[in-house]
Amino acid sequence: MRFKVTVVGAGFVGSTTAQRIYERGYADVVLVDIVEDKPQGLALDMMESGPVIGTDAKIVGTNGYEETADSDVVVITAGLPRKPGMSRDDLLLTNMKIVGSVTEQVANFSPNAVLVIVSNPLDAMVQHAKAVSGFPKERVVGMAGILDTARFRSFLAMELDVSVTNVQAYVLGGHGDSMVPLIGTTTVGGVPVSDLIEKNRLEEIVQRTRDGGAEIVGLLKTGSAYYAPSAAAAQMTEAILLDRKEILPCAAYLEGEYGINGLYAGVPVKLGAGGVEQVLEVKLTADENAALMKSAESVQELVDVMAANG
Ligand code: NAI
Ligand code: 2OP
Repeated sequence: MRFKVTVVGAGFVGSTTAQRIYERGYADVVLVDIVEDKPQGLALDMMESGPVIGTDAKIVGTNGYEETADSDVVVITAGLPRKPGMSRDDLLLTNMKIVGSVTEQVANFSPNAVLVIVSNPLDAMVQHAKAVSGFPKERVVGMAGILDTARFRSFLAMELDVSVTNVQAYVLGGHGDSMVPLIGTTTVGGVPVSDLIEKNRLEEIVQRTRDGGAEIVGLLKTGSAYYAPSAAAAQMTEAILLDRKEILPCAAYLEGEYGINGLYAGVPVKLGAGGVEQVLEVKLTADENAALMKSAESVQELVDVMAANG
């Protein structure tokens, strides 16, 4: 028997996430969208690639939720993406309504699923999904840290002309302008990055990482990134389905870890069949700790706006 994964939102991130999971072959996929015929058309097209790819998994598209019943993982990508000049936070109240109604439906049909939230502004949306679903904190997790970290790792590998696989790094905090690329624990082939790249250049790479989403929006002009985001969402889904117990930076609900309480923030977690099975506490420098607190404050501000509009 295969696993079952639902992806809600058949836009760029949702459809590429569905494709990545479908092509791995170990899960049947249900793709949901409000736009009539769109998820059906995309799913049919993907299904017709099965004989070429060699997968027997099933993928269907739908505008309802009955077919999503008893999913193991639900990835929520429904909502507006940002356009040039917009910040992720500009999406707050619109996407709050969308993510709220989607979460209500998926929680009803898949009460034991792990929810992987992707919609922006990410940390606020995952906080909202936890509240609406009533699921335990372990089963509601947000995707952003893997993406931000992948950008950071890519830029460092480009700078040093080494394989991306040799760059070990974390970007923590909220998925916004105040995200926290860590320098102290970043290594390249085991060597501290600060021994390899001089401080000013490193700061430029950190800033490019923080602006990574906006850089893509500026180039695409009509939407935001989706190849790297869907790769990250698929990695999280796989870690959960296959109980890989993989350590990945994800938005997790913190209750005292890193001195943050009652709030989602990007931190390294162990992702397995139970969802977030553990939050790992990395040793931070004083500057990194202060930056993480500032980032958490930005997330709290959005959560407060949601509470005032809830
Ligand atoms: P998109 O516009 O291509 O797709 C969004 C889809 O959601 C559309 O097909 C739309 O019809 C659908 N939708 C809207 N309301 C819905 C509802 N109530 N039920 C079901 N479907 C609904 O946008 P894209 O590029 O796929 O991005 C999706 C979201 O993911 C955006 O909010 C974007 O900002 C966010 N994002 C987050 C990232 C992260 O790191 N957390 C990375 C990339 C995108
Ligand atoms: C990104 O960072 C839009 O949040 C999305 O690309």
